Amino acid sequence: MVKSISENALKNNKKKTKLKQRKSRPRVAAGQAPAVILIGFMGAGKSSVGRALAEQLGWTFEDLDERIEQRERQKVAEIFRSSGESGFREAEQSALKELLEDLRGGPKRIIALGGGAFVQESNAHLIQAANIPTVFLDAEVDELWARCQRQSERQGIERPLLGSPEGFRKLYEERSPHYSRARLKQETGGKAVAEIVAELIEALGLGKRPTKARRK
Ligand code: S3P
Repeated sequence: MVKSISENALKNNKKKTKLKQRKSRPRVAAGQAPAVILIGFMGAGKSSVGRALAEQLGWTFEDLDERIEQRERQKVAEIFRSSGESGFREAEQSALKELLEDLRGGPKRIIALGGGAFVQESNAHLIQAANIPTVFLDAEVDELWARCQRQSERQGIERPLLGSPEGFRKLYEERSPHYSRARLKQETGGKAVAEIVAELIEALGLGKRPTKARRK
C-alpha cells in the first residue's frame, strides 16, 4: 500500500527529532500573547471551541483552513484532489506564515489549525519561534470518529484524510505524540462547548482581571 505523506513525514520526523521538548525562549503568558493556537486531530472541536472561546474573550477567531481556502480560491477537499496532500501542505505552510506575520499589531486571536498542520515539523518550529501558546484539544478516538461522521452527514463537511475507522485510529496514534508537545492539553470528551471554554479560560489564566497597582 502506498503510504500517505502524513505517515512518511511522521516517520522521518521521529527519526530526526525524537519528539523532545525543545529549549525555547521564556514562555509568554496567554494573556500577553497575540494569539492562542488550538491543535488536535480531526473532530477535536478546534473550530467550534475556538469560535466560542474567541467570542467569550472578545478576541478574533481565525481558522487556518479558511485562510487557505481564501488564498487558493478552492475548498480544502478540492486542493487535495487537484494538488494532492503535498500541494495542500505547501498551501497550509504559506498561509500559516502569513497568519503569523499578521499577528504583529493585529487584534488578539484564537486560531484553529487543521489536524495535520502542527504535525509538520517546520510548522511547529514556526509557531514555537513566534512564541504562541498552543492547546491540544483531545478526546477518545472513537468519539473523534463519531463527531466527524456526524459532521459529514449533517453539515456535509468533507475531510480528505478521514478514511476508514482503522486508518483514522492509526493516524491519530501516530500524530498524538506531536500534539502532546502543546503547552496545554484540554480534554473535550463528553463535554459541552461552554464547559470546555470555561475550563480553557481558567487553565490559560485568561479569566483574571488585570491587577491594579497597589497604592500606599
Ligand atoms: C487535516 C485536517 C483538516 C484539514 C485537512 C487535513 C489533517 O482539518 O486541514 O483536511 O491532516 O488532519 P480539521 O482538523 O479541521 O478537520
